[in-house]
Amino acid sequence: MTNNMFFIANWKMFGDIRSVNSTKKVIKFSKNKKYKRAQIIYCPPYTLLEKFSKITKKSKIKIGAQNCHYSQRPGPFTGSISANLIKSIGANYVIIGHSENRSFESDLIINKKIISALKENLKVIFCIGETYKEKKNNITFRVLKRQISTALKNIKKINNIIFAYEPRWAIGTGKLPNLAELNKNINYINNLISETKKKQTYKIIYGGSVNSENVSELLKIKDLKGFLIGSASLKSKNFIDIIKKSIN
Ligand code: 13P
Repeated sequence: MTNNMFFIANWKMFGDIRSVNSTKKVIKFSKNKKYKRAQIIYCPPYTLLEKFSKITKKSKIKIGAQNCHYSQRPGPFTGSISANLIKSIGANYVIIGHSENRSFESDLIINKKIISALKENLKVIFCIGETYKEKKNNITFRVLKRQISTALKNIKKINNIIFAYEPRWAIGTGKLPNLAELNKNINYINNLISETKKKQTYKIIYGGSVNSENVSELLKIKDLKGFLIGSASLKSKNFIDIIKKSIN
């Protein structure tokens, strides 16, 4: 189980009802024994969750939402979706703290969202990462520490959390951290989590401009357990190519 690699497709606000069918190729691919270590998770827009859940039912592909509200109870939150509603549609995962949402939510709200999701037995894909300005100001560690320690407040068990390191400046830009920098930051995250949550198992993945061209380079980072993939996950072929290059 620990040998599994995660390939998480974050469709953001892309895709429509017709594009669900394009995933049939990935569903077929996921049944190939050679790639059984690949845990594929699709995170489409909310409106496609049910359709995805149905179409992937007979495969090992899992479904996740891209966000949730922090309230554990139904309430007057127009336009919001709770972890409970996400779970009820057949999803197993939820992305929380994505950098494209971080300007609308604090670390404390993110903490509440994680608590709410874990209570519903959803697995959490928790995003962390520094902006370009923070990187240039050499405060990446400080930012990561704040994001992680606040988000994990009052959370004892972290085995259902996947930590997704996504430097904000690498998202959608085609830029990647160099290997030394990535190694350093992943090590820092690893040490920070294992110091506070001793002996627990957790996973760290990377996101930001991952594609089939650069994935082999990223695989040199030893502690990575997979990738959170945006634009390269929209076309089945590109997504499958990433998985094929990662697992041999
Ligand atoms: P891109 O792969 O398009 O850079 O997006 C990364 C991302 O934000 C995944 O959550």
